[in-house]
Amino acid sequence: DAPEDLKERPPVVTIMGHVDHGKTTLLDAIRSTNVSGGEAGGITQHIGAYQVEINGKKITFLDTPGHEAFTAMRARGAQVTDMTIIVVAADDGVMPQTVEAINHAKAAGLPIIVAVNKIDKPSANPDKVKQELTEYELVPEEWGGDTIFVNVSAKQRMGLEDLLEMILLVAEVNEYKANPDKRARGTVIEAELDKGRGPVARILVQHGTLKVGDAFVAGNCFGRIRAMVNDKGRRLKEAGPSTPVEITGLTEVPGAGDPFMVFEDERKARSIAEKRAVTQRQSELNTNTRVTLDDLFK
Ligand code: GTP
Ligand code: NA
Ligand code: MG
Repeated sequence: DAPEDLKERPPVVTIMGHVDHGKTTLLDAIRSTNVSGGEAGGITQHIGAYQVEINGKKITFLDTPGHEAFTAMRARGAQVTDMTIIVVAADDGVMPQTVEAINHAKAAGLPIIVAVNKIDKPSANPDKVKQELTEYELVPEEWGGDTIFVNVSAKQRMGLEDLLEMILLVAEVNEYKANPDKRARGTVIEAELDKGRGPVARILVQHGTLKVGDAFVAGNCFGRIRAMVNDKGRRLKEAGPSTPVEITGLTEVPGAGDPFMVFEDERKARSIAEKRAVTQRQSELNTNTRVTLDDLFK
């Protein structure tokens, strides 16, 4: 893409952290709904992708990075996230999955914002969290470092605006851009077979603009966009960069983490999907040959 074709796009943010430190509650609080209350045992069942708007700017959130989609994407080196919010419960402090999250974010070269959560609790000790995190080179600005820390209570909805403003600040510094004026390309976040609608996939559009009627390949599957809805269930005709959408019109169910790409027509899409399926079978038969499926998209 020529630099002049690139336009600002919303940052794509993941929330990571140790179990029960408040990832889902925080995400819910941010979009002012309550998914976690309806979840079995309060455990997140699947990836949610949502967009919120603050001061006229959008932010896209992806929930539950421990999900297989993220594992698959990481294994392929595909990047869907721009930055990571690491949630640390102020009463619990740094735990094994906190460290894991930090390592993932660093390995992927992602900016980190630390959300010190549960500060409403009497046993909360945000300074201890800061102290513990210095061991992992996450040093707050007031201690001479450059890591943004925000104290929040997801439960009492405190500090959320600060957090969103910090996300926008990091986005501004990093200038996330994409060219909206080309065929869409993105990643499958999750997919399933719906009884009524057939194969359904939730995808994140990363480049270009996806339109109803577009012929596409998703993993080894192909199709034509029949309908598209956003995270609020609203029907869309088009979806630009950083937009999560649910699509129908697939012939089969693709895999979480599969690349998604629009082609000029359905015949081309079908032939690419078939080639990809053959290549995958070959690479499964011959593990010594490291075939990148993405090569076929080039
Ligand atoms: P997993 O998805 O299971 O890893 O958990 P999670 O990180 O999504 O945590 P979740 O949002 O399910 O919250 C775990 C528990 O902490 C729930 O009982 C929440 O109500 C509680 N909790 C979350 N945020 C806060 C907070 O700011 N203050 C207090 N007091 N409790 C909180
Ligand atoms: Na939980
Ligand atoms: Mg959760």
